[in-house]
Amino acid sequence: MPAGAYQAAYERSLNDPEGFWAEAAGRIDWVRRWDRVLDDSRKPMYRWFPGGVLNTCYNAVDRHVESGRGEQPAIIYDSPVTGVVESISYCALRDQVARVAGGLRQLGLAKGDRVIIYMPMVPEALVAMLACARIGAIHSVVFGGFAPRELATRINDARPRIILSASCGIEGKKVIEYKPLLDEAIAMSTAPPERCVILQRPQSRATLQVGRDVDWRTAFASAPAVECVPVAATDPLYILYTSGTTGIPKGVVRDHGGHAVALLWTMKNIYNVSAGDVYWAASDIGWVVGHSYIVYGPLLAGCTTVLYEGKPVGTPDAGAFWRVIAQHRVKVLFTAPTAFRAIKREDPDGTLIHQHDLRTLQALFLAGERCDPDTLHWAEQRLGVPVIDHWWQTETGWAIAANCTGLELLPVKPGSPTRAAPGYDVRVLDEAGDELPAGESGNLCVRLPLPPGCFPTLWNNDAGFIDAYLSRYPGYYLSGDAGYRDEDGYLYVMGRIDDIINVAGHRLSTGGMEEVLAAHPDVAECSVIGVADTLKGELPLGLVVLKAGVSRPHDDIVRELVQMVRDRIGAVAAFKQAVVVKRLPKTRSGKILRGTMKKIADGVEYKVPATIDDPAILSEIGAALRPLGYARNAM
Ligand code: COA
Ligand code: AMP
Repeated sequence: MPAGAYQAAYERSLNDPEGFWAEAAGRIDWVRRWDRVLDDSRKPMYRWFPGGVLNTCYNAVDRHVESGRGEQPAIIYDSPVTGVVESISYCALRDQVARVAGGLRQLGLAKGDRVIIYMPMVPEALVAMLACARIGAIHSVVFGGFAPRELATRINDARPRIILSASCGIEGKKVIEYKPLLDEAIAMSTAPPERCVILQRPQSRATLQVGRDVDWRTAFASAPAVECVPVAATDPLYILYTSGTTGIPKGVVRDHGGHAVALLWTMKNIYNVSAGDVYWAASDIGWVVGHSYIVYGPLLAGCTTVLYEGKPVGTPDAGAFWRVIAQHRVKVLFTAPTAFRAIKREDPDGTLIHQHDLRTLQALFLAGERCDPDTLHWAEQRLGVPVIDHWWQTETGWAIAANCTGLELLPVKPGSPTRAAPGYDVRVLDEAGDELPAGESGNLCVRLPLPPGCFPTLWNNDAGFIDAYLSRYPGYYLSGDAGYRDEDGYLYVMGRIDDIINVAGHRLSTGGMEEVLAAHPDVAECSVIGVADTLKGELPLGLVVLKAGVSRPHDDIVRELVQMVRDRIGAVAAFKQAVVVKRLPKTRSGKILRGTMKKIADGVEYKVPATIDDPAILSEIGAALRPLGYARNAM
């Protein structure tokens, strides 16, 4: 592609969005062509491709079989934790998906019904997602590291008729039994499913509840294969819950039409891969990266997707990623910077890289958290390929800012995810809604409409959608991230404006953790902040004030708090540290000064806020944090 290709595509996407996306939609097979590319008659609610009818599963699976790719691997399942490497061709995938879809129908599932998928990284999980898409059911995948209560919240909101799960997941050397967690979640929920279908894994067999639970093989092995049903482009394909500013997660909805069009466009234009290429997103299907780039994106493009059930380190060592790239001839790897920090920590010189032939690798893409320049340079130097940071969110489903390598590789600037991707009119706004000049930090916003593939709403909650994202600046989407743009139009994403923290690329709400701590009988007041961590980017740290008269040992209380967060939110919260303090710093109007405490903990310079009630509390906080290894440079 010639120099200027990115700029030309970007300008066209904003000046003629309907023409731009209609052209991209030409690469999708439609049952019925859309009436309009963009329906903007109900602003601020926009819909892409209304009137269009298609099937996402057909586009991701069947059409590749029909066009002669039937024998090509669709999925390579590589599981160092079980010692299995298995290749599933497009033909075999179509047959499995069609049977599972038939089995779901036999269990009574119909178009529009919800299905929760609470499964580890096994091929059956992908088959389940595609089977739902095949019959127009709406899936909602819940990450395995969440505790029963979090699962129950999602069950209550999505009200699934069926839950698909497995006997266990495997985390490194630990076997984590999923079934007791599922049973507990259902017992807590107010909308229990009619049926649960359980995949029995050899590492641990689950006990099935007669009348409700069915064994996966019994339900699906001899079910009739069913065809893809036509689905409206604007119908929901899936719901994916993500952390909001409270303990209640937000149900991000993805539609069929815009999603298929946008993801297919990204495969060629952002990642520069085509049918037949091997693409590997080392993430988890429980996150948006997994939805978009383990499952739908690569399959829509006819690529081979790698499904990796392992870790970057410890399964068995820091050479695991290089082994997978070499063994499966991976062209593009996508992961979170934290995975590279974990590898770098164990193999700082990258000696294990030399044991593998990585000639097929053409680019490394990173996202999920800010990519620190050290990690970027380390990866660039060791791998000798472009390392591309790109910025996106569960809400958008694909990159808001990226170096679109299939259009044109722009110079990489460490610390920046490059420029806004075509379709996104990104603006940096100040508190009053005025645009800020280059170099000045503000709220990163996108002028409406968001491009296809982004969420059209929150599940059953249009009002919440408008309130959380569109009301702050009318006509704009509020990303929740703060940052700036430089003179060359490169964006810099510096952090959240709300209480969300990013732990090992996982998005978590500190508000949710505070709700748990506040429920402890000895706690009067609390606050959770994200403190800098060299491996995971951020780690949560609790600060609690005890009720008057509590004289129990603080260590015991802290241990209980850690356990409560693990039990109620899950191991994924990585909440392992809390400290008892006498008071929390507040403004005169009573707002806890979390940002100032974070700066104190991280040992960075801070200004004493003019609105602070009692500045003396700040030095007490520093003194309380120092024994934990924080607040080293604090005044
Ligand atoms: N099911 C059950 N438990 C899970 C789980 C799952 N699917 N995923 C994680 N957990 C558990 C872990 O076992 C760990 O439990 P522990 O406290 O008992 O040790 C806890 O949740 C925290 O997990 P994690 O944050 O992944 O930490 P880790 O120390 O196990 O691994 C990394 C650290 C950096 C290797 C790991 O986070 C990683 O590979 N990250 C890649 C980032 C990524 O995939 N991001 C997704 C967005 S792109
Ligand atoms: P999630 O919805 O889980 O994908 O998390 C989205 C959030 O992760 C964003 O709002 C950012 O705060 C952060 N994030 C994702 N990618 C990047 C990136 N490349 N640089 C900085 N922050 C990022």
